[in-house]
Formats: sequence, structure tokens, C-alpha cells
Amino acid sequence: MEKLVLGVLASGRGSNFQAILDAIEAGTLNATVKLLIVDNGEAPAIERARKKSIECLHIDPRRSSTKDDFFVKIADEFRARSVELVILAGFMHIVRKPLIDAFPSRIINIHPALLPSFPGLHGQGQAADYGVRISGCTVHFVDEGMDTGPIIIQAAVPVSPDDTEDILSRRILKLEHKIYPEAIRLYAEGRLKVVGRKVLIDGYALKDDYIVNPPLR
Ligand code: GRF
Repeated sequence: MEKLVLGVLASGRGSNFQAILDAIEAGTLNATVKLLIVDNGEAPAIERARKKSIECLHIDPRRSSTKDDFFVKIADEFRARSVELVILAGFMHIVRKPLIDAFPSRIINIHPALLPSFPGLHGQGQAADYGVRISGCTVHFVDEGMDTGPIIIQAAVPVSPDDTEDILSRRILKLEHKIYPEAIRLYAEGRLKVVGRKVLIDGYALKDDYIVNPPLR
């Protein structure tokens, strides 16, 4: 099978980007990253691309006359390299129409909470402060809203009342690194179909009846 051509957008650390690169290297994800675009020339994600000889572009939003224009530039660069799926990996902007129209149902994001709860910044801190018993992470298709697109995979972690944002973030991040490459794999295998708000996964059947925290006796 042909490798899925990925384009990645990142603003910072890039640990999810790294998890994707690791899955490709391990042979569990049949894909290739053609281009990394960062909005911040200091992003540690750049070094991760360099180590794999992946092309990296810095597109500074301050050099675009409008926010839409910033996304036109991004769309042009991805299109020029025949990118098939755009991966948001810690990209700190709400995606605008020019990119969404260029890649319809072909942009995905990971969010560190169980959407639609706790969208936006600091999803882990919001969940910890709220006192939920279960939180987690969500991979979803991107639409024009903030963390609102159709959900592909969610994974749950238990939350303790004395968890800080930092502790919970670390617990969730481990799972992010598992489910993001997995969602891309499902996409690469052509198993995802978006029907309205829902994502149907070919060959998927529900296994467990419940998740409880604290566990039942
Ligand atoms: C992750 O927590 C991700 O869920 C959120 O931004 C963070 C990015 O971390 N969208 P990293 O740059 O992938 O390490």
C-alpha cells in the first residue's frame, strides 16, 4: 500500500509529532511526513524534524496581513507537496476556512480532555479543577470551531481529587502518544467515514461495557 503523506503543524514541544515519527519508524504506521510547518521559530519540534531530515518551514503569523492569509500560505505549502492528511500537533491557533476548505475532513487534532468537555487551553487543568473522576484525550477531525469536530478516538484516565494540572497532564500525555498514531493508522487504512457528527470506523465493535473510577467492589 502507498504511504499516506502527512503535513504537520506545531507550535512547541512536539512530543505528539515525535510519537507519530516513532510509529512510522517502528513500521506500525504506513505514512511519511513531507513537511512540518511551525508558527514559532523556537519550537523544539523543529529539531525533531531535522533529525529525520524532514523539511521544516517557519511561517510567522505576524507576517501575514490577516489570519486567513496565514492559513492560505499554509494550505499552499501543503498542497504543493501533495499532503493528504494535515496533523495538528500542539498548534496554538484555531484553524480558519482557507485551510479547512483546502483539506475537507483531512485535518485532525488531539485535545487533552474528553471533548466536548473542557475545550480550549488547559483542558487538563480545567478537568482537575472541576473535580471530574475521569478525563482523557480526544483525536478529532477539525472544523472551524474550537475543538468541535467529529470524534475519532477517545481514551480515558482516572483523575484523583489531589491531581494537579501537571500530574494529570503527564498521565494524559502518555495516552495521547498511543491514540494519535492509532487514529492516523485508521485513516491511512481507509477505515474512517464521517457521517454528520459521527465517525464510523470500519471493523470496529464495542468491547467493554463500562469504565468506573473509583472501581466498583
Ligand atoms: C498536547 O497536550 C496536545 O493534546 C495539545 O497540545 C499539547 C501538545 O504537546 N493539543 P506536544 O507539543 O505534542 O508535546
